[in-house]
Amino acid sequence: MTESILMAPSILSADFSCLGDAIRTVEAGGADYIHVDVMDGHFVPNLTIGPPVIRSLKAMCTAPLDVHLMIDNADSTIDWYIDAGADSITVHVEACPHLHRTLTRIQESGRKAAVSINPATGVDSLVEVIAMVDMILVMSVNPGFGGQSFIGRSVEKVAEISWMADQLGVAPLIQVDGGITTETVAAVAQAGARCFVAGNAVYAEPDPAAAMNAIRAAAQAAIAGA
Ligand code: DX5
Ligand code: ZN
Repeated sequence: MTESILMAPSILSADFSCLGDAIRTVEAGGADYIHVDVMDGHFVPNLTIGPPVIRSLKAMCTAPLDVHLMIDNADSTIDWYIDAGADSITVHVEACPHLHRTLTRIQESGRKAAVSINPATGVDSLVEVIAMVDMILVMSVNPGFGGQSFIGRSVEKVAEISWMADQLGVAPLIQVDGGITTETVAAVAQAGARCFVAGNAVYAEPDPAAAMNAIRAAAQAAIAGA
């Protein structure tokens, strides 16, 4: 049986003037999530979209919304994203002094709770929350922009998180975000990641759904041959 690989195309690289079309295209191709990058111009040097747009997307999406918060004040604004209809919410350890409280609040709302680490943040920062989260997001670029190059050290970080989870007897989904292509996905899949965000490698292609599924197939081939 083919092990399940989840694809979360990032609309950051789509044409913002027709987000609905961009989403329908990848949903028709079997997208498992729609990845929504929220940036505040403080935690990361870019500014994107917020709760009103998420609310509108929720009304037209059939796939669950995977909302990645790259913001400084997630602890105090988490209810904005819950109320807007996010199905899964990812917060950064670097930005949340009250991480346990915020993850608990997300889960109490019935949404999936995920935690992310930047390239310069060690996996040890996850020890106290790995057993409670639904998903861990390893950033394989410095967050803020689409179309950057994959940072190779991310492969070892995924392997270290997989090992840590095994030791604790838990199995959070491991997601990787940044520079994912049909080439870079193989090693992180073999290291234990099963959910992949891809922006540029999907939306810069003439057929985004086919590009997304080519990445999925590359990951499946990598774990089948591992
Ligand atoms: C980057 C965002 C990513 C971004 C990935 O800060 O979190 O989700 O869209 O884009 P690519 O796949 O182009 O690296
Ligand atoms: Zn993202």
